[in-house]
Amino acid sequence: MKYLLIIGLFLCFVVAGCNDAQDAYPQFPEKAAVVSSHPLATKAGEDILARGGNAFDAAVAVSAMLAVVEPFGSGLGGGGFWLIYDAKTNSYNMLDAREVAPEAATADMYLDQQGNPVPGLSTDGPLSAGIPGLPAALVTVAEKYGSFERGTLLQAAIHAASDGFGVDQRYIIGAEYKLDLLRQNSEAARIFLNNNDLPASGWVLKQPDLAKTLTLIAQNGIAGFYEGELAERLVQDVKKYGGIWTIEDLKNYHVINRLPVTGTYKGTKIIAAALPSSGGITFINSLNILSQFDLDSHNPATQKHLIIEALRRAYHERAQHLGDSDFVDVPTKRLLSAEHAAEQSRSIHLDQATKSDALSLYAPEKNKGTETTHFAVIDREGNRVAVTQSINFWFGSGFVPKGTGVLLNNQMDDFVMKPGVENGYRLIGTSANAIAPGKRMLSSMTPTFLESDRGIAILGTPGGSRIISMVLLAALDWMQGGDGKTIVARPRFHHQFYPDEVFYESGAFSEGEALALERKGHRLTPVKRQYGNMQIILWDYDGNTVETASDPRGKGDEHVY
Ligand code: DON
Repeated sequence: MKYLLIIGLFLCFVVAGCNDAQDAYPQFPEKAAVVSSHPLATKAGEDILARGGNAFDAAVAVSAMLAVVEPFGSGLGGGGFWLIYDAKTNSYNMLDAREVAPEAATADMYLDQQGNPVPGLSTDGPLSAGIPGLPAALVTVAEKYGSFERGTLLQAAIHAASDGFGVDQRYIIGAEYKLDLLRQNSEAARIFLNNNDLPASGWVLKQPDLAKTLTLIAQNGIAGFYEGELAERLVQDVKKYGGIWTIEDLKNYHVINRLPVTGTYKGTKIIAAALPSSGGITFINSLNILSQFDLDSHNPATQKHLIIEALRRAYHERAQHLGDSDFVDVPTKRLLSAEHAAEQSRSIHLDQATKSDALSLYAPEKNKGTETTHFAVIDREGNRVAVTQSINFWFGSGFVPKGTGVLLNNQMDDFVMKPGVENGYRLIGTSANAIAPGKRMLSSMTPTFLESDRGIAILGTPGGSRIISMVLLAALDWMQGGDGKTIVARPRFHHQFYPDEVFYESGAFSEGEALALERKGHRLTPVKRQYGNMQIILWDYDGNTVETASDPRGKGDEHVY
């Protein structure tokens, strides 16, 4: 009962600006729900909820299962951000389980003698791997928020790893794309390929070493992964094949509890990932710029033009200022302020695209040159979790230290190798995101809560640099009253400051809109493949309904109970 009151008061005063209508808000969702990108992961969460676990218990089970059934996307060798709302204490937390640069890392470690990035060095093999954060997150969330033993929460994942499961088409596509890389590491090839060849759909992937590693975590907690025999195995093979991890790097790893960033747009409160994810700041900054215009009063082409211009400016700030705030001074308060957005919006013309060059404080150098996962849980107490977890590119670094079953991330590529030079997502940045020992690389992962008179939305997606624009489009749709299925399916468009192009999926613009945007000076580039794999939960106060939706681009699965 106490929680009912707390949530009710919170919604009344913080979210909605108190008036009598709020008395009508349901205080608890009528149903619990899990949504994730894989049916086995959703089922793992569902089973825990059915056994009386809370949203946090379920989230640990889902996360661990994703590590097993989507080894190409996330896992024990990677990291992520856990956005948490704890109904009991009415508090928010962003558990930062981002990877960390090893102590021996240096700002120029991926550059040749001429000072240019060496292709592949920051993306392939153990030198591209940061110290993983996900194992520590699983243990911490279970301990701090969960109500079940962590062994119980990891059980389904352990079984799936040892008994195996049939791989799906997404696995095959990813493995084909990374076939050469996987073949370069005999341990990765042994586990993920069928006699060194591409497996067929339905091939049973068994990961007994990963099952052992998960069991060690179940038994010994954080020490099970970051200390002892497993840590030694990890370090030994990383070093043998050119990496720079040490036992101390692993022992020193810790998750960080951070306050999420918050903002308001037309009566909706936004709660999203804080640094070292750029997601929340860049997303809220985009909304703040848009709030300088009455979006609804413009025709669809101009609305899209304004969204592109807002993204251009918000990603410009990302490139200029954002990095791990434990290492660099980031003007977060200013970047999130309405005054700053007002100033940014002054250079926006309704009829003409701005050239990104005109915003730039430095001339970016010309350079020649997926898969993460998101899931969400809500329980009937109102606890919420939104998690985006990743090993960066498909199959990460492609490297598995022998006998561990742990596929390592290649998240070091999210750092800036050299100011102005693009990373794998064609993002640029400054020394704010330069490599330094113990520093966390800037991310775009944006687990988000939206709260308004309508209710609550819990959302996020993979997609590298495009995550933030996807979350922005979804949030705008939700604020317009869109239902879950429409929001996740909507064709997307994206601008990230550099390259100065609007990337779009087929159907994102009508012919007339495309023409109007081109006339304003936008360069439109169709993308070959669709992108994103958004998972959302919507709790609507009207009728107290809970809806889940899984991106049709993936093969997610959702359940409402
Ligand atoms: O943290 C980031 O921003 C990226 N490493 C996320 C990677 C990702 O979303 C890959 N999915 N397509």
